[in-house]
Amino acid sequence: MRVHTRKIALIGGGQIGSALALLISQKDHAEVVIIDLPQAIDSIKGKALDIMAMRPHAGVDVPITASSDYSDIAGAEVVIITAGVPRKAGMTRNDLLDINLGVIKSVSKEVAKHAPNAFVVLSTNPVDTMCQAFHKYSGMDKSQIIGLSGALDSGRFRLFIAMKTGISAKDVSCMVMGGHGPTMIPLTRTATVGGIPIQTLLSDQQIEEIVQRTRDAGSEIVNLMGNGSAYISPASAIMEMVVAYLYNKKRLIASSVLCEGEYGIDNCFIGVPCIIGAGGVEKIVEMELNKTESDQLQINYRALQDNITQI
Ligand code: LAC
Repeated sequence: MRVHTRKIALIGGGQIGSALALLISQKDHAEVVIIDLPQAIDSIKGKALDIMAMRPHAGVDVPITASSDYSDIAGAEVVIITAGVPRKAGMTRNDLLDINLGVIKSVSKEVAKHAPNAFVVLSTNPVDTMCQAFHKYSGMDKSQIIGLSGALDSGRFRLFIAMKTGISAKDVSCMVMGGHGPTMIPLTRTATVGGIPIQTLLSDQQIEEIVQRTRDAGSEIVNLMGNGSAYISPASAIMEMVVAYLYNKKRLIASSVLCEGEYGIDNCFIGVPCIIGAGGVEKIVEMELNKTESDQLQINYRALQDNITQI
């Protein structure tokens, strides 16, 4: 029996997966199925029961189940892949390439088999290359595949601008392009607070500090936490993308998507502004970049091309 009109499958019941189950159920968006390895299932069932026990307080009815059988994702409108290993202090996201590639290879075949029409959001790192691998091994359409980058990185950029200016993050509008890694490109030229350019509110040095902190934010959290990686903000950034798809919001969110000629990039998943709606990745929005920005984008592109040769 279908217990909710919508279903979201979470591949991976770790920290981000559990946070997603909480965020999805809090808003009653969809039934949740969490897929993980057999040895992890009991612990995930425990987390699922813990979240479901919130139902009476939250007044929602979303069921959350855990399974190791991929056939249970059948009918999912959205599949969110967080499976794989997170980095530890001192590691780059790229250090996870080999180990997580194996995970994504096997996951992609299962998703293509059991939920071939789903909108697939990936956060496994290095995310741009994991999207590329998912695209290759699943054979699914590029409009169905998107990686978490800009939603999280732009969110951090917004937060740090808000903290420096003392103005609400809600009023900050800005974007981070490029790969989800240390050379990501926080676009200072177009960043505003309530429509006012940040250059009016902050000094060049303050802006430079914000840019560097945005690039390092993932590592800053890894180093402080000691035994894990950020999970609340990644889950909440993923939800922005998922909600845009489920409710056809036409959100403009920089994300890792397949460029085929846009921005002079060919056959490479990389963070660029795109529109997310009921059609998935509906359109990549192209804007003119200045010389510095476009040089930085090329540096990101070349690094990702090196990764692609390893897929
Ligand atoms: C981070 C991970 C999700 O940036 O890449 O925290």
